Amino acid sequence: MEDVKQKVKELSLKYGRAEENLLPILQGIVETEGYISEEAMVEVARELDISAAHVYGTTTFYSFLDTRPKGKYVIRVCKTISCMMKGKNEIIRELENVLRIKLGETTHDGLFTLRETNCLGQCHKGPAILLNDVPYTDLTPTKIRKIVNDIRKKENVSN
Ligand code: FES
Repeated sequence: MEDVKQKVKELSLKYGRAEENLLPILQGIVETEGYISEEAMVEVARELDISAAHVYGTTTFYSFLDTRPKGKYVIRVCKTISCMMKGKNEIIRELENVLRIKLGETTHDGLFTLRETNCLGQCHKGPAILLNDVPYTDLTPTKIRKIVNDIRKKENVSN
C-alpha cells in the first residue's frame, strides 16, 4: 500500500495534479505495478481531488488499463467486427482449451492472461491478437495453439 501511495505521488508530481492527467498517471501505474488495484484508484482520486467513481470509470473503460494482476504473457484477442466475422470466437475457444482458462482469467502458473480488446488496426488480416505488444494476424486455431506451445517450450513449462 505504501508503495502504491508513493508511486501515485511520484506520477502526479511528474504529470501534474490536474484531472486531464488522469490517463498518463493510470498508464504509469500499469507500467510499474502491472495493474491498477482498488487502492491505487483511491490514491489517484485523492491526489487529483476527483471522485473514485470517475477514476474507476476511466480505468475500466480502457482495455489496456488492467485492474487485475496479469500473467507474463497477455493475449488480447480483437473482438471488433472484422475479426469477429473472420472467426475470433474460434480463436478464443482454442485458447480457452489450450490454456484451460476462461476469457478474462490468468493461468495458475501466472504465465498467460486471456483478454479481449478493440480493433488492433489489422482488420484485413484478422483474426488478430496482441501478445504483449506484438500483433499476430491471420490466425487459425492451429496457429494459435502453436504460438502458446512455443512459449511454453521457451519457458520450460509442460502443457
Ligand atoms: Fe480486428 Fe480491426 S477488427 S484488427
